[in-house]
Amino acid sequence: MKSNDILMAGLKEAVAAGGVVAFTGAGVSAESGIPTYRGTGGFWTQYDPDKYAAIDYFLTDPSYYWSFFRDVRRDLLHKARPNPAHTALAEMERRGLLEAVITQNIDGLHQAAGSRRVIELHGSNRRFSCLDCGREYALAEAEAALEKELPPRCGECGGVLRPGIVFFGEMLPARAVDEAHDLARRARLLLVIGSSLVVYPAAQIPLIAKTSGARLALVNDEPTPADDLADWIVRGKAGEVMPELVREKPPA
Ligand code: OAD
Repeated sequence: MKSNDILMAGLKEAVAAGGVVAFTGAGVSAESGIPTYRGTGGFWTQYDPDKYAAIDYFLTDPSYYWSFFRDVRRDLLHKARPNPAHTALAEMERRGLLEAVITQNIDGLHQAAGSRRVIELHGSNRRFSCLDCGREYALAEAEAALEKELPPRCGECGGVLRPGIVFFGEMLPARAVDEAHDLARRARLLLVIGSSLVVYPAAQIPLIAKTSGARLALVNDEPTPADDLADWIVRGKAGEVMPELVREKPPA
């Protein structure tokens, strides 16, 4: 096993060579105060994903989702700020080393940090629409509707509002998937940050990249099912590891 310094030096060199695509999960936002889904304190240990995150349950009883959004989720969205991991990725893109961030996150923190090309595979919790007429609502508008009634309804037609996230039981947005697969196929280095890599089809991205010739680096604080495929495994906090990867050598 290589020491951490040698491992980081090799990975820094690979990042500096460019052609990097990042693939992120909830762990990248953990240090911004948004709990991950799995593991200690994860959302799914406190809330039942079969009720909160499943489209069939949402269509039967949208109030369950909306009360959780009102009481827990929206506060997290308002309070969370990008952390050094998000900022490091935005910096990599500014320097022309990073092609894009493919994310499973719905919190918008990559964009808030300044990342320009962000592919949201699981949608966004900052966009909403009417289930009936499709009219789109921004976060503030959906919140205003939620102040009035539960579940919130469309000002136009009275239909129930839904979040712009991908529920379990729904397809991933086709354009985002195509773009993500294309990026994964062309990447020289796929940098996976803060994902358990257990949720498919998103977890195919590292496999696609690897079988297309990319090198694979995993930055995570616990093992993942893709560890055997990885060229680098950096075990640590994303907010500490990522700034280190973009830190330039001080002039001699
Ligand atoms: P998970 O909660 O499954 O995994 C987060 C991973 O990040 C875990 O392996 C943690 O150990 C790791 N982690 C936590 N904090 C970290 C930190 N500060 N630095 C580095 N690693 C850290 O989240 P995802 O893999 O994103 O889907 O989950 C994938 C999908 O499952 C989500 O997009 C969501 C969920 O169900 C939908 O809702 C459709």
